[in-house]
Amino acid sequence: MGSDLDAGPLMKPLLLALDGETLSNPPWWLMRQAGRYLPEYRQVRAKARDFIELCSSPALAAELTMQPVRRYGMDAAILFSDILMIPHALGQGLAFREGEGPVLEPIESHSDLARLDSDRAIARLEPIFETVTRVRGVLGPQTALIGFAGSPWTVATYMVEGGASRDFRRVKSWAYRDLEGFGALIELLVERTAEYLVAQISAGAEVVQLFDTWAGILPEAAFERWVIEPTRRIVAKLKSKFPNCPIIGFPRSAGVLYKRYVLETGISAIGLDPTVPTDYTTNDLQPLATVQGNLDPVLLMVGGKALEDAVTELRRLLGQRPWIFNLGHGVLPQTPPENVEVLARLLSEPLLP
Ligand code: CP3
Repeated sequence: MGSDLDAGPLMKPLLLALDGETLSNPPWWLMRQAGRYLPEYRQVRAKARDFIELCSSPALAAELTMQPVRRYGMDAAILFSDILMIPHALGQGLAFREGEGPVLEPIESHSDLARLDSDRAIARLEPIFETVTRVRGVLGPQTALIGFAGSPWTVATYMVEGGASRDFRRVKSWAYRDLEGFGALIELLVERTAEYLVAQISAGAEVVQLFDTWAGILPEAAFERWVIEPTRRIVAKLKSKFPNCPIIGFPRSAGVLYKRYVLETGISAIGLDPTVPTDYTTNDLQPLATVQGNLDPVLLMVGGKALEDAVTELRRLLGQRPWIFNLGHGVLPQTPPENVEVLARLLSEPLLP
C-alpha cells in the first residue's frame, strides 16, 4: 500500500512485536526505567514528601514517566506508580522507608479483610488515571504507553507479610491452611486489579503488564491456584472489555511453569526473568507468544564488553522470532546512566551476521 509509506509505520514498534511481528531491531523498554539511577529522578524525588505522594501527583508522576523516554528514546513509557498503590487504596497502612523498602500493616486472617475498604479503592486511584491521560497526550507517535498492576499473588505477599520477606512463611501458611479465607483476599484482588487495569486502559494505556515478582516461590499446585487461575480471570475480564489490548504477564522465576502460565492464562506476551534459558525460550515459549526479556540487570550495571556481548547474543538467539528487549528484572539503582545510552545504541544498530 504505497500511499501509506510516506506516513511512516502504521503501528508503534512495541505493538507490532506484541502483534507477533519479528523486527530486525527489537523494540525495547526497561522495567524500572524511571528511578534512582537517574539524577533527574532523584531531583524530583527530593521535592516530594514521600514516594506515595509522587505516585499520587499526576504532574510529578507524568514527568517521572517521561524522564527515561526523553533521555533514551525507549519504545515504551511505563506509567510511574507502584504495585502497592492497590493495598494503599484499600486503606491498608503503607509507608516506604529509606533503605528498608515498603512497610504495611499486615493482614493476617479472613477477619482482617473487613478492614479493607474495597468499594472506594478505584475512586482513590483517580490521580493515577489522570497521570496516564497526561502521558498519553505528550508521548511521541512511535512510543507506546504501558499501564500495570501487581498480580494478586504478589500483592497479597506484601499485604500479608507486611513488606519484603525472606521465606514467605506467613502468606504461604495462610494460603495452605485456609483456602477459603485466603481465596477471599485473592478474589478481592482479582476484582479490583481488573477494574484498575480497565480504568488505566480507558485513560490511555495501550498495553498492560501484570508483575508477578513472587510467582516463582510456589509449588506447582499452589502456582496453579494462586498464580495461573487469578491471572486467567483478570485476563478474561480485560479481554471482554478490550479484546485488542495486549497483556504482558511476568511470572518471575516460574522456571518450567512458564509454559503452563502462557498456555493457561491467555496472556498475549510473556516477561522472562534472567534465568530462563534461551533454548527453552525459542523452543517452548516463542511459538506460543511474544517474549520479553531477559538481560540480567547486573550486566547493564557492569557495562563494557560483558554488556555488549550479552546484548548481541540475545539478539542472535531471541531476535529471530517475536521479541521485546527488556531486562529480566528492574534497573538497579547503581546502574551508570551512560550504560543505558550504550544499550540504546547497541539495540539500534544492525545486527552483523
Ligand atoms: O518500571 C517503572 O519505571 C515504573 C514504576 C514502577 C515502580 N515499581 C516504581 C518504584 C513499577 C512498575 C514498580 C513495580 C513494583 N513495585 C514491583 C514489581 C516489579 C519488581 O521490581 O519486582 C514490586 C515488587 C514493587 C514494590 C516495591 N516498590 C518495592 C519492594 C520497593 C522498594 C525497593 C526499591 O527498589 O526501592 C518499591 C519502591 C519503588 N517503586 C521505587 C520506585 C522508583 C523506589 C522509590 C524511591 O525510593 O525513590
